[in-house]
Amino acid sequence: MDKIIITGGKKLQGEVVISGSKNATLPIQVATLLTDAECTLLNVPRLRDINTMNDVLRAIGMEIKEKNDNYVFRTKGKLKNMAPYDLVKTMRASVLVVGPLLARLGEAKVALPGGCAIGLRPINIHLDGFRKLGAKVEIKEGYVTLKTKKLVGNRMTLDFPSVGATENLMMAAVLAGGKTVIENAAREPEIVDLADFLNTLGAQVSGAGTRVITIKGVKELGGGTHTVIPDRIETGTFMVASAITGGDIRIKNGRLDHLAALVEKLKATGIEIEESAGDILVDGSPKLKSLEVETRPYPGFPTDMQAQVMSLMCITPEDSIFTETIFENRFMHVGELQRMGAEIVLKGHSALVKGVKYLSGAPVMATDLRASAALILAGLVARGKTEISRIYHLDRGYERIEVKLEKLGAKIKRIK
Ligand code: EPZ
Repeated sequence: MDKIIITGGKKLQGEVVISGSKNATLPIQVATLLTDAECTLLNVPRLRDINTMNDVLRAIGMEIKEKNDNYVFRTKGKLKNMAPYDLVKTMRASVLVVGPLLARLGEAKVALPGGCAIGLRPINIHLDGFRKLGAKVEIKEGYVTLKTKKLVGNRMTLDFPSVGATENLMMAAVLAGGKTVIENAAREPEIVDLADFLNTLGAQVSGAGTRVITIKGVKELGGGTHTVIPDRIETGTFMVASAITGGDIRIKNGRLDHLAALVEKLKATGIEIEESAGDILVDGSPKLKSLEVETRPYPGFPTDMQAQVMSLMCITPEDSIFTETIFENRFMHVGELQRMGAEIVLKGHSALVKGVKYLSGAPVMATDLRASAALILAGLVARGKTEISRIYHLDRGYERIEVKLEKLGAKIKRIK
């Protein structure tokens, strides 16, 4: 099992290039099931989750070729109507194949995604939406089977603006008969990117990025080429990396407009963030102030940045409060940060962080993707050596982060 070793204390300086968005790529990969024409994706990040999704799609009947850093997708023969448990259990996003399979085959069988480190992560909102589109849903032996003669457009209101449910239902609706209106839809930039891709293939999706998405069903879709948006969470993670080391870095290919709520909080703590010639400059040197953070659906403060900002607040004077409203168990990083000397008290869905003068390097364990990033950030500023194990969690969502950080001056290396 690989480990990452960091010796803290280096100020980060220089340039970093942001990779394509994991959470935009995953639904777009799945959307290629909706057409038999060729689809080309550009700016796809090299990540474990992307590879896992490619394996799921190949198992269903997709041919995927890499052509100089781009991916070309083309369905090959008859599609299978199911996603295998051994792949679904490693990545919850596999449940997104249901929408396209229902739309193309009228039938989908997918293993119920188990829980994961950050919560139970049910799919009830997905299933309620598919029922509204005319599908019969049956759950048995750990699998959910959905059947329909033909999906029919309908109006629906999501109980919660679930990102995955919005994506799944959008993909089902593009080939349904008639019009579908999804109210209380998720508004993340990744939803907008999926809608852009679907429309490139000839779908008629409007309102993506707002609470109400309208989809006019079409008979069939063609092919097309799409460049995936940059990863806003990787961008935010490097902003915190600059701040926590008191450095100043230039972030290339990031999109500031995708991070308004995070940037507002980081500026409130004293970090200087500005745009210059299309790049993002982050100067973390000023003395930082404590924060109150509450995670919210987009455009609110992103839950995927909660752990990383908590690492920053561990060494910021006074007390900070983090309230996690999206997932029921997204404080797995707290125990590991405490091993490094952080003073954090958990009270229900909130974590009270009392700033300490310094963190001390220690052997710690990654538990989930963003918790791993939080431990890396803490290691960058801790005194002495931090050794992070189980970093396969990290490889799910960050492309060669240790290489990018080393280029910025961090003392960091991966050992087999
Ligand atoms: C997406 O997960 C992201 N993953 C997550 O990023 C992100 O944290 C999350 O959206 C919220 O922004 C991908 O895009 C691949 P949800 P998703 O459905 O779609 C509950 C990362 O680190 N819920 O919006 O699974 C659910 O349990 C990952 O990159 C239901 O109750 O998120 C959770 O508490 C982690 N029933 C909340 O809603 C449902 O049917 C948000 O889930 C669906 C969701």
